[in-house]
Amino acid sequence: MTGEFRKRLEEMSEITDRRLEDYMNGVLSGTSGQRKVAEAMKYSLSAGGKRIRPVLTMEFCRVCGGDPEAALPAACALEMIHTFSLIHDDLPCMDDDDMRRGKPSCHIAFGEPTALLAGDALLNFAYETVCGGRLSAETKIALITELTKATGVNGMIGGQEIDTAFEGQMDESVLLDMYSMKTGALLKSACKMGCIAAGAGDEKIAAAELYAEKLGLAFQIIDDILDVTGDEKLLGKPIGSDRGNEKETFVSLNGIENSRKTAKTLTDDALGALKAFENTDFLKELTLFLLKREY
Ligand code: IPE
Ligand code: IPE
Ligand code: MG
Ligand code: MG
Ligand code: MG
Repeated sequence: MTGEFRKRLEEMSEITDRRLEDYMNGVLSGTSGQRKVAEAMKYSLSAGGKRIRPVLTMEFCRVCGGDPEAALPAACALEMIHTFSLIHDDLPCMDDDDMRRGKPSCHIAFGEPTALLAGDALLNFAYETVCGGRLSAETKIALITELTKATGVNGMIGGQEIDTAFEGQMDESVLLDMYSMKTGALLKSACKMGCIAAGAGDEKIAAAELYAEKLGLAFQIIDDILDVTGDEKLLGKPIGSDRGNEKETFVSLNGIENSRKTAKTLTDDALGALKAFENTDFLKELTLFLLKREY
């Protein structure tokens, strides 16, 4: 990991943080009786996180010849939807986890009803956010279409349903399809929205999709590995959550070492898909950073 990479990653994550804070201050200024839900939205959104999805959106925009700044509203919208997914994922009716991003989960800090509503409100505010900014109306519609599909019943939400509803032993192919939906869909959307914001053609979008399909699977497998081997302080969320919930994961099916090998193969495939783009040094380092990450 070069120093240059770290510096850029930090810069891009700070740009995202600042813009998210501006958006949330705007929301808070318009609230009165419902202020608590706005505070809960801000709490979870500003608690940190790697900001990988916004970084991917901005970076894919850049490698497609666009201005990353123009993709920032879409990038922030995606982080809002991701944060909504985490708030709901931690609820007692789902994974029942008390810590997230190094702080008490939203429902621990604000109570279950407000956490539920904060997730809903972040989802809605995400779409309002994509409608802002300086891209053309046509591009915004393309972005919103992409985002709604990735989030909805055939995307992240559908994957979460399969994940929570499944009992018994899950076939590996069913498990991987579920990973592609619950985790892969938003990561894919991040990459595609960067391309769309830059006005990229179908070939580039297809290459971004292929990259993200591989990355999404590797990302969830690493997340599963960290649920076993990770350090709670670094991760900012409880370990052993999957086992506690008797959840079938890629790791419970294949063991740690084989899971690591699969994540490495998927990462190599993702790197291969980047050949369709130029100036991909940062994206390559990011892909490897996500494979080797400890949080
Ligand atoms: C965690 O996502 C949930 C998964 C989809 C595996 P991240 O690992 O990107 O979480 P943050 O945003 O850094 O907190
Ligand atoms: C997360 O899967 C998928 C989401 C869409 C939130 P996990 O349940 O494994 O994520 P963590 O480990 O709680 O972050
Ligand atoms: Mg979960
Ligand atoms: Mg969880
Ligand atoms: Mg997990």
